[in-house]
Amino acid sequence: MVIYKIQSDIKTIEKNSALYEETNFNSRVEAIDYLEFNIIDRIEGLLQTINPPEKLITLKQDAERVKRQLEDIDNTLFQRLRADIRDGGCTGTALRGRIDEYVGHDGGGGQRHDEIGYDSLDVFINGLLLSQAVPLETKAREPEMVAYQQTPARIIFELVEQAHLRREDVFYDVGSGLGQVPILVHLLTGVAAKGIEFEPVYCDYARACAADLNLSGVEFINTDARTADYSDGTVFFMYTPFAGSILQDVLEKLRRESQKRRIRLFTYGPCTPQVSRQSWLKCLDQNEDHLYKLGIFTSL
Ligand SMILES: C[S@@+](CC[C@H](N)C(=O)[O-])C[C@H]1O[C@@H](n2cnc3c(N)ncnc32)[C@H](O)[C@@H]1O
Repeated sequence: MVIYKIQSDIKTIEKNSALYEETNFNSRVEAIDYLEFNIIDRIEGLLQTINPPEKLITLKQDAERVKRQLEDIDNTLFQRLRADIRDGGCTGTALRGRIDEYVGHDGGGGQRHDEIGYDSLDVFINGLLLSQAVPLETKAREPEMVAYQQTPARIIFELVEQAHLRREDVFYDVGSGLGQVPILVHLLTGVAAKGIEFEPVYCDYARACAADLNLSGVEFINTDARTADYSDGTVFFMYTPFAGSILQDVLEKLRRESQKRRIRLFTYGPCTPQVSRQSWLKCLDQNEDHLYKLGIFTSL
């Protein structure tokens, strides 16, 4: 009975011609997830039992083959999009249009905007920008430093929408990880974007991604955020790279910058309440107590 159900699920997915149409990206994400977690993982579980039916091995190979066929469609799509970006033919609204064409306006996942969670938009952005294997960390973090976790892509899009960046702005992602925030902000707006990252292999990864896309307006600096030079920065983003005294030290550096020019700071995650307590910053939205909504602050 179980074998019959698995077999029929694989067949249903394989015979669904809509999944092979390139623009049906969200349906493909669901089908690939289903194959991975409801079929392949399930078969692997069954193979651990006593005397598993031999047929399961063929079914696992079938499921892996169908999954690969669907992934190949996405890989071809991402390679073409990367080539278009490299040639300078797909940035700003053109890129936004291409992403909407595949994922739709709501990210395809119907995620609630006040909780962390990833959706098809993240799968798309990861396919586009994070195509290489993620390297292992090489440096020991201090206890207040936060490990790499990526900002949900819908938050980066919201930031771009809310920030109304001007050509003369310089955007900083403080604690930039694998680099997708500065790269995406630069691609969507054209402004100069920089990432400050403590972990050298993450910085190398981000630089390689920017170089692969021929982007000269994005820079990644491998340093501790406490010692970075922010003298040209006007718009900053932090997805809680650190907490406590490190956060306070970096905010103090930004406060000093704000005495020379107005700066804006966008936050996401548990750092937002500490940022909202800074007397030199004013919150421009209602999200100063929301951990998983975009916090928007301007210097006074
Ligand atoms: C929560 S992740 C955010 C990553 C990135 N902003 C993104 O959304 O993809 C925090 C990042 O901050 C980095 N980080 C932690 N402490 C740091 C420090 N003192 N200076 C610079 N980067 C730091 C971590 O290595 C990690 O990549």
